[in-house]
Amino acid sequence: MHIIDIIEKKRDGKELTQEEIDFFVKGFTEESIPDYQASALLMAMYIKGLSKDETANLTISMLNSGEKMDLSGIKGVVADKHSTGGVADTTTLVAAPIAAACGVRVAKLSGRALGHTGGTLDKLEAIPNFNVNLSLDEFKKQVNDIGLAIAGQTLKLCPADKKIYALRDVTATVSNVSLIASSIMSKKIASGAPAIVLDVKTGNGAFMKKYEDSLALALEMVDIGTKAGRNVTAFITDMNQPLGRAVGNAFEVKEAIDILEGREKGDLFEVSIALASQMIFLTGNAKNYSEAVLKAKKSIGDKSAINKLKQMISYQGGDTSFIEDLNSFVETKFARDIIAKRDGYIGFIDVPKIGQASISLGSGRRKLNDSIDYKAGIYIEKRLNDKVFKGDVLMRLYSNNEAKFDEACFILKDTVNIQDGPIKKPKLIYKVIDKNGQRDF
Ligand code: URA
Ligand code: CA
Repeated sequence: MHIIDIIEKKRDGKELTQEEIDFFVKGFTEESIPDYQASALLMAMYIKGLSKDETANLTISMLNSGEKMDLSGIKGVVADKHSTGGVADTTTLVAAPIAAACGVRVAKLSGRALGHTGGTLDKLEAIPNFNVNLSLDEFKKQVNDIGLAIAGQTLKLCPADKKIYALRDVTATVSNVSLIASSIMSKKIASGAPAIVLDVKTGNGAFMKKYEDSLALALEMVDIGTKAGRNVTAFITDMNQPLGRAVGNAFEVKEAIDILEGREKGDLFEVSIALASQMIFLTGNAKNYSEAVLKAKKSIGDKSAINKLKQMISYQGGDTSFIEDLNSFVETKFARDIIAKRDGYIGFIDVPKIGQASISLGSGRRKLNDSIDYKAGIYIEKRLNDKVFKGDVLMRLYSNNEAKFDEACFILKDTVNIQDGPIKKPKLIYKVIDKNGQRDF
């Protein structure tokens, strides 16, 4: 087999066989196929598209390129969740303890901040002494003992995806639905959970800005997971504004705790309840989805969800005393307000800019080795369609470095558009997709 023939075949729009896809993935991972040929093939794939079979085969080849998490030692049914990424998207910190409190075995590998979106590991590291580095044995023991662990990846899962994704990133070949679906699902399948709940974001702050693209991505991911024998559900949820009100690491931990303590509701609460409930239902911890919702909400009322989070924090070496004084947990030396320049209604929010402004305040990294100001961030006071008056606070910015405000304010210029009349607010959860098809939520 020759890579040139494979490139030529895809360039001409023909379907590649399983052997040809595997030859490319292996060859590129082992570096017998150089970057320039891999780039040409990825561009051909990007432009000509992949069939369902090609997408499934690409996923399997990337899955087989590395190690796999063997979760068979865990008693009970394990569930995993994944979000395609958004701003103030703290669903893991809310949904995972709720699901675990309702009997789900939650074994969750998380990542760090990517682009303008935050990462769960960075948020957890805002907690004093919290350890995200668990060996596979420690991870499994913890899930067996308390039903909940959130940690970084230690095994070499899908090294082919890592190499291919890095190449796609610099060759303008990321935003193809089949390439994204196979990239995400190869890692989810390698992570070992039989039940997987996906949160596919749509809107200006999402990877997929157009609803049709988000739907296509969700359908492909469910299809791939189902073919691999997993029980997968995808929700399509809105990312035309930050999901929660807190953007930043300690800040998002506080918001998750406020929800788990029953003090806060709102969109983050609603999406988290939906994701947790589906995890509860898929793992057989409720007879149907409605019963799962009742159980999920009850776990907030009876404190079992917040207690589960505290148990996880202690188990992973963290100090839970900060929960008793959340205000000092998030307190920064400096703050600055973004003010409404006129009366009207919030008509548009440029979500990526809010993520970028938060990073510039110190909440994220621009380079791999940048250090993080865990308390830096932004609090969103006004949301889409809120009525505002000139002088109202739209957002409050927090940082321990006063020099950082000018850049953040510059980024945030024109981020919120105020218009004369009310808007039609976007839906929060658009669709639910599983192996039986799609339905409105
Ligand atoms: N996230 C991934 O893991 N892969 C993609 O291709 C896009 C987003
Ligand atoms: Ca995330």
